[in-house]
Amino acid sequence: MTKDEVLSILRSNDSYVSGEAISVSLGVTRAAVNGAVKALKGDGCVIDSVTNKGYRLLSCPDKLLPGDVYSYLPQERRKNVICLSTIDSTSNRLKEMLKDNPESGTCIIANEQTGGRGRLGRRFESPSDSGIYLSMLIRPSGELSDMSEITAWTAVAVHNAILSAFGIETSIKWVNDLFIGSRKVCGILTELSVEGEIGLVSNVIVGIGINVNQKADEFPAEIADIATSLSAGTDGSHLDRARLAAQIILEMDKLVSDWPSGKPSYLETYRSCCISLGRDVTVSNYATGEKKQGRAIALNDDFSLFVKFDDGSSSNVMSGEVSVRF
Ligand code: BTN
Repeated sequence: MTKDEVLSILRSNDSYVSGEAISVSLGVTRAAVNGAVKALKGDGCVIDSVTNKGYRLLSCPDKLLPGDVYSYLPQERRKNVICLSTIDSTSNRLKEMLKDNPESGTCIIANEQTGGRGRLGRRFESPSDSGIYLSMLIRPSGELSDMSEITAWTAVAVHNAILSAFGIETSIKWVNDLFIGSRKVCGILTELSVEGEIGLVSNVIVGIGINVNQKADEFPAEIADIATSLSAGTDGSHLDRARLAAQIILEMDKLVSDWPSGKPSYLETYRSCCISLGRDVTVSNYATGEKKQGRAIALNDDFSLFVKFDDGSSSNVMSGEVSVRF
């Protein structure tokens, strides 16, 4: 939409940009540029217009608008990035789109989710104006058994994106939660579809939810003691969600091109950031409901966790919930 591209141009320029320059760069009429500026003002953006100088963006509400995210993405990457104001779940929407065979890399980002889903059927709190809720479709080569590693690779990709966008160091709690200190800031939900007869994975939907700008007292009581945001977990400054959303897309694109040969660097980053290692953990088996106490000793090359249990046994944990006793 012209409006999104105009916002992206204004976002990328600190000084005035003429209507003529915008219309030439987008290949649209001056009237279309005027219309887009009017629409952006309707969205709450404050845009100064000066005769013979053009337009300058003074402020824009933090709504994760398409033009905000596009201003951080190369032109050719924008076409498959859909930014919505509110949706039940970005992963649900992407699933609905599968019937139209969207390109790998198609991405849905929302400013709010009304039915955000977490692992094990849990709810993922997804309030407006503060988090990033992003789902991306990828089609990595390989069989079902190879795919358990995608979640761990994604944790590294998101860790890298947060570090390069804001310089904030997060740690990884096995297998796919990002933490600041002892509190969760990000969860990842990976969902696969498999071609029945041949056992090949046809679509992987990676859903990433990040608490970015919530204040400490804004979390619901059930998670107030275990959750934080990138802002509340550091110095409290307001962080640019669009910048991080774009960086996640670029890191996920890198993951896809690194897959599978780039594994050593993902393993190295994972091991250096993994807070589960060397700690006392409780391993819960989903199938049996059994819980065992032990110590996480090492991360194996397939991203499984080697745990020595207090009863003297040991195991390479591939799935299940591993909570860390801080
Ligand atoms: C978890 O922590 O259990 C995983 C949370 C995953 C949440 C993300 S937000 C984007 C995508 N849409 C959803 O409904 N869930 C994932």
